[in-house]
Amino acid sequence: MEAEVVRMTCTLFNGGPNTCGTVTSGGTESILMACKAYRDMAYERGVKHPEIIAPVSVHAAFDKAANYFGMKLVHIPLDKKTMKVDVKAMRRAISKNTAMLVCSAPQFPHGIIDPIEEVGKMALKYNLPLHVDACLGGFLIVFMAKANYPLAPFDFRVKGVTSISADTHKYGYAPKGSSVILYSDKKYRHYQYFVAPDWQGGIYASPSVAGSRPGGIIAACWATMMHMGEDGYIKATKKIIDTARTINTEIRKINGVFVFGDPEVSVVAIGSDVFDIFRLSNALTSKGWNLNTLQYPSSIHICCTVLHTHEGVAKQLISDVKEQVALILKNPNEKTTGMGAIYGMAQSIPDRSMVTEISRGFLDCLYSTEEPKSSQPQKTYMNGNSNGKAH
Ligand SMILES: Cc1ncc(COP(=O)(O)O)c(C=O)c1O
Repeated sequence: MEAEVVRMTCTLFNGGPNTCGTVTSGGTESILMACKAYRDMAYERGVKHPEIIAPVSVHAAFDKAANYFGMKLVHIPLDKKTMKVDVKAMRRAISKNTAMLVCSAPQFPHGIIDPIEEVGKMALKYNLPLHVDACLGGFLIVFMAKANYPLAPFDFRVKGVTSISADTHKYGYAPKGSSVILYSDKKYRHYQYFVAPDWQGGIYASPSVAGSRPGGIIAACWATMMHMGEDGYIKATKKIIDTARTINTEIRKINGVFVFGDPEVSVVAIGSDVFDIFRLSNALTSKGWNLNTLQYPSSIHICCTVLHTHEGVAKQLISDVKEQVALILKNPNEKTTGMGAIYGMAQSIPDRSMVTEISRGFLDCLYSTEEPKSSQPQKTYMNGNSNGKAH
């Protein structure tokens, strides 16, 4: 079943017979695996301090990979208008230590697809591997052409793309705990494997981070893909992209806010030059919406799923945004309060180790089994979501 999940995903991403991959436990593990593979390739070339060159918008899983695997993450700025990686700056960052280049399709914060064809050319020129992180929207973008939303090539059609991560547990609709990492050739996958040939327990060969792996989740992933079928995925994709495009178009018409770049997939990120956008986040929370908050620059985004495609949902969001922005604009300089103020403050603390320490405390709280001492209702100042983000 794992082999078939991988083969189906290779086909979706236009991979030929040499493409291959493995199933992992999630987007983060898929990314860790690609970074580990390219680190070991760089070591083999004699590179002592391998570097990952990635847009500043890539998922924090690349920070994690750099931290776990002793690599350096070199963040490349974005073009401020398009929110796509600045390809010239990426070229300037390439050095003898470069182990890999990264693009997202699309990235989490603003839902923008990086210029993969341009970066692909550069990868070929400098003979570097290029990873495309399609964890978030992979199972949308592969169906978009058939849903009448064509995109520029982002997959193995682009010469230079050597690996792609795509999460079955996001828009693949499989249960949490499954993702796919794909390579353009088996030679790359070999660097992902771990083999301990001399272990007393026998020759130990393992494809990914986990030792024992959950067959149930892989079976559920396979069954979900079979159940959805290509038609099911195309239908869901069409509904989601229709909804996201409507939200994008309508939000752009509202005075006082703007949409970051030209989002082509399911995420629409909103900012403001007139007021603190976290005030809008507070206002929408009080209306029952839960938008992700983003930093550097301050913004919020909606990530459209099938739920948002239901009759009247997008309309309600647009109308709530319109109404709340109009209220905020009556007094655009008013101080931000509540959670919004905390998001803003967290960005402005120059000592980032303090933010790290507070986040560790937050994670500790999640593991607390102590009964609250006071009978007063407990106020929560931070909450987590399924992206593992501490807010
Ligand atoms: C673009 C992108 N890459 C990677 C990931 C990490 O995936 P996971 O949370 O499954 O580890 C995410 C999660 O939101 C993402 O949006």
